[in-house]
Amino acid sequence: MTKTELNKMLFALTVLVAAATAQGAQTADDMTIGRFGSPPAETQTVSESRKTRSREGDDDACKCVPYYLCRDNDHSVPDRNFLSFEQNPCEETVEVCCKNPDSTVPKVVRETEDLKGCGYRFPNGVDYIPNLDNEQNSDNSNFGEFPWVVAFLETSNGSYVGSGAIIHPEVIVTAAHVISSYKDSPGNLKIRAGEWDFKTTMETYPHQEREAQQIKIHPDFHRRNLRNDIALIQLSEPLKFENHVNTICLPEQDESFDQSSGCLQTGWPRTSFNDSTPGIMNKVEMHMIPHSRCNDQLKMTRLSPLYMLHSSFVCSGGDDANICKLCGGAPLVCPSGGADRYKLVGLIAWSIGCNLIETPGMSVAVSNFRTWIDSQIKEWGYNNSSYI
Ligand SMILES: *[C@@H]1O[C@H](CO)[C@@H](O)[C@H](O)[C@H]1NC(C)=O
Ligand SMILES: *[C@@H]1O[C@H](CO)[C@@H](O)[C@H](O)[C@H]1NC(C)=O
Ligand SMILES: *[C@@H]1O[C@H](CO)[C@@H](O)[C@H](O)[C@H]1NC(C)=O
Ligand SMILES: *[C@@H]1O[C@H](CO)[C@@H](O)[C@H](O)[C@H]1NC(C)=O
Repeated sequence: MTKTELNKMLFALTVLVAAATAQGAQTADDMTIGRFGSPPAETQTVSESRKTRSREGDDDACKCVPYYLCRDNDHSVPDRNFLSFEQNPCEETVEVCCKNPDSTVPKVVRETEDLKGCGYRFPNGVDYIPNLDNEQNSDNSNFGEFPWVVAFLETSNGSYVGSGAIIHPEVIVTAAHVISSYKDSPGNLKIRAGEWDFKTTMETYPHQEREAQQIKIHPDFHRRNLRNDIALIQLSEPLKFENHVNTICLPEQDESFDQSSGCLQTGWPRTSFNDSTPGIMNKVEMHMIPHSRCNDQLKMTRLSPLYMLHSSFVCSGGDDANICKLCGGAPLVCPSGGADRYKLVGLIAWSIGCNLIETPGMSVAVSNFRTWIDSQIKEWGYNNSSYI
């Protein structure tokens, strides 16, 4: 198959999926926009069989225990390399195989820093559980690294629906196509903040769940072409902000990020819902692509030489970025000037194929909607101090 044929096929798929999503269908097979498959049925509790695995009897006899009970190396905090879960014989990502566990050790938690406001990333995470930063080619995030990222779940069965970003204790922003089918039944949508690894509930700080109370889809959202693909969710109760649960900053209206690099897209990869791979939040580094250059690149695809990319999209690309891994409203953030501080630039909307080296990925241009978000926030009786 030639590349053009492949693009054609992938584009046809995109349109099919967009149409299906527009009708509220739950497309588990969604390759290019929107939703992923389902997580394992049991997302809330750790199944007994995976809980601990004792290694007693081996030469290197050790026992799987929560990492903070292990003082083998006589470190006051566990050795990060030792905790690297890719070499970790324990099945829980937060467990280590320990020769001399000490059950009297209290949890080792990094000093709680004062909450500083929106958009602060913790590059090393907010806790000493497996740090994968030093591992080559690892797309795994650290625990608490991106406090604004939330997951959406079906209330009834815990199925994973997509992701979004916290902008206020009671408000989440995401791509409209991800949640539009819940508009008239918001109670069927659950928001989980502070999640990191779907396969364990043993993270130091627990995640927080809230039901959606109201869903506001942008009035100019077009289901077929995904223009103005943005929505706000009001929560049933406020989130409690902690180091691992906090807001992202919003850009000013029409602020441009065309020249930005060092941007990060985060979310849970579809593949993580197969039992074989860990369900840890991924991060993918990207750079922004100016609108006109992006449009030129799109014209070279199946989209026709007359294609005009709507102004409600921004484009991004990467060196090693598989956009299909992270779709469904996944937040795209870019550096905002301060150290380790970011602004929300996009929410994944669609792509042609999955490979960001060949064609850019299109996200909702959040800065086009700052005024709309402010007015909605005001209508709900809140103010914009949580995201500026
Ligand atoms: C969960 O519920 C949704 C909506 O009722 C359904 O589409 C989906 O297939 C269910 N998933 C599982 C794993 O049962
Ligand atoms: C995930 O599971 C599906 C269905 O069981 C399978 O087709 C797919 O290849 C798996 N993906 C990975 C990365 O294992
Ligand atoms: C939101 O914040 C901006 C400052 O960035 C302020 O000028 C504006 O008045 C605020 N808007 C609303 C609706 O609260
Ligand atoms: C914004 O709302 C917060 C929380 O409701 C409140 O504490 C703060 O005083 C408000 N700020 C302004 C400028 O109204």
